[in-house]
Amino acid sequence: RVVFAVTGAVAFHQDGLVLADPGFKEPRRRRHAGNILISSRMLLGIINDLLDLARIEAGRTDLRSEKVAITDVCETLCQLVRPLADKNQLELAVHLGENIPVMVTDAGKIRQILYNLLSNAIKFTPPNGQVTLSARKIQAEESPVQREAVAITVADTGPGIPAAEQQRIFEKFHRLDSTITREHGGAGLGLAIVRDLTNLLGGRLTLESEPGHGAAFTVVLPVEPPEPIPTGPDART
Ligand SMILES: Nc1ncnc2c1ncn2[C@@H]1O[C@H](COP(=O)(O)OP(=O)(O)OP(=O)(O)O)[C@@H](O)[C@H]1O
Ligand SMILES: [Mg+2]
Repeated sequence: RVVFAVTGAVAFHQDGLVLADPGFKEPRRRRHAGNILISSRMLLGIINDLLDLARIEAGRTDLRSEKVAITDVCETLCQLVRPLADKNQLELAVHLGENIPVMVTDAGKIRQILYNLLSNAIKFTPPNGQVTLSARKIQAEESPVQREAVAITVADTGPGIPAAEQQRIFEKFHRLDSTITREHGGAGLGLAIVRDLTNLLGGRLTLESEPGHGAAFTVVLPVEPPEPIPTGPDART
């Protein structure tokens, strides 16, 4: 119901019902209406993140099992976030290795994982930095998931994450006590979702970072699901 209410508020603004009001030609009122729209969108994002986490924790997340061309997913996501990178004056590059196999997994969940990692990298990297999305094939023998896998890395040249914080940033609501974090909005939910979704897909999530020298988050996902992907409300029973 809350999602319904906030979605309604956002749509109400988007439809121009508010902005079409002659009173909203006045700059200050237009600005205020715009701020309400931005805040409503942020609120909707937080509510959706909280619901996603609650669903995962309750074992009620439906997983799809479909053929996924991960190279296409990477290219499409980069197109999606490129305007954000441009706005923050960041170089955004995609490096796709050779012979990346088609995977059988849930493309939507992978998009959600990578979108959260890319939006963090773009958000926390100061202007003139670089954000890179790369993917490569991993043979079964060297795979942390004991089977053929694809490793996808989101790396940036931002402030990095101190060693003492590298576990805690994956906890819900945990944000670094740093100027750059305070300068940007966020509830501290994105990485908790990334962690939970990666586990759900049978993958491994690692972070390499040295403060002052950027951060690299890597998700290793099996090419085939580890066991028949559970679906529906009885998935965990
Ligand atoms: N690429 C990064 N570089 C530096 N710090 C990072 C990076 N990614 C995450 N962090 C730190 O980890 C914290 C947790 O990240 P997380 O994505 O969970 O939350 P958020 O981005 O602050 O909020 P939300 O994702 O809910 O909008 C961030 O607040 C930030 O302090
Ligand atoms: Mg985030």
